[in-house]
Amino acid sequence: MVAHTSEGHCCWGIAALAIVRLAFEYRVLYWSMVESRQSLFREVSDSLANQPAWHGGWHNGRIANSYSGISNLDERPSSIMTVTQVPVEPTHNNPDVEHAVEHVDDDGAPSHPLHKVLSFVRRSARLDARLQRAWDNYADTYLLDIAAGNGPLDVREGFSLTKAYIHSIWGNDNPLIVEIGTGQGENVVAAAAAHPEINFLALEVYDPGVAHTLLLAGKQNLTNIRIAQVNAAELFKVTETGVLAEVWTFFPDPWPKKKHHKRRIVQPALADNIHHALRQDGVWRIATDIEDYALHVHEVMDHREGWENLGTVAVSLPLEHVGKGNADMADGMPHADFIESERFEGRVLTNFEKKGIDAGRVIHDFTYRANAL
Ligand SMILES: C[S@@+](CC[C@H](N)C(=O)[O-])C[C@H]1O[C@@H](n2cnc3c(N)ncnc32)[C@H](O)[C@@H]1O
Repeated sequence: MVAHTSEGHCCWGIAALAIVRLAFEYRVLYWSMVESRQSLFREVSDSLANQPAWHGGWHNGRIANSYSGISNLDERPSSIMTVTQVPVEPTHNNPDVEHAVEHVDDDGAPSHPLHKVLSFVRRSARLDARLQRAWDNYADTYLLDIAAGNGPLDVREGFSLTKAYIHSIWGNDNPLIVEIGTGQGENVVAAAAAHPEINFLALEVYDPGVAHTLLLAGKQNLTNIRIAQVNAAELFKVTETGVLAEVWTFFPDPWPKKKHHKRRIVQPALADNIHHALRQDGVWRIATDIEDYALHVHEVMDHREGWENLGTVAVSLPLEHVGKGNADMADGMPHADFIESERFEGRVLTNFEKKGIDAGRVIHDFTYRANAL
């Protein structure tokens, strides 16, 4: 009986030990799963966060691993990661992207107050051999090291575009013209070649555009041009007062959907920063082939304090905005006259302008002078 009882205790003891051990192993297994899930989360999250604007565009059924917006990862209590897919407007730049992952609400505003509304959608486009060679050969000479290296292409912390910096880079005090969104660089490079007495700075966010501009400048061995791969809006926030002679913005991305109009690069805040950066009597030249964008420019600029529209040509425009696909509706809307400029003769015909003309669109040119406030 005694022996039977102690045998019974022994069995229970073994069973209890087995249960404790099983529970322990389960716990270890559980935590290792949690840990690996968390590290996976961290890995994905970091890699997306490093591309300021991650675009997971669905292209031919595959993630095109492009673009813009901001990664939309949540770590829910259940550790489920979610990536929200929202449509992104095809632009001149990304005509074939159907969708992208973006942190924007339906009205085009970022869903987080700290996220910026960007005027561009960034693709991690591969450079072909020729452009890669151009990058390797000329980046050291022409590409300014002022970018923060993050997704939204901010300017490096602490950097300012000052008179002293400009002198140190260009080696002289010649007037400086900044072109925003230089695309392939045809215009800014042609201007730099034609005007060695003027300094030029090309701002472009798109890798192949930057590489092509490097190629054009490098082939001609130009010394008066530099390129910065930064969000132009951020650079103007840190530009010293009165250091620029002119700013050019030719054929900005149209962002035709009404809910995306706030992504258009011409905005009141940018206008104020450009006003500050221009020397007195400096000018901001703008051109667009999109009628609705022309109306947008007039709305932002015509009554803005400190700016004077130097145009001489009366142009009739509808008084209301139309969204994507509704440009024809504008014809039936009430119109009014606005003042614009003759075509700026310092601009070469780029593909964007040519496409607009070929499609029968009117080119709208604007010249705004920064007067003393
Ligand atoms: C439609 S393209 C026009 C390019 C060029 N101006 C032309 O006429 O050929 C607009 C360009 O602006 C660039 N862009 C858009 N937002 C920008 C920003 N915030 N800073 C710098 N470049 C920008 C785009 O990457 C794109 O190359």
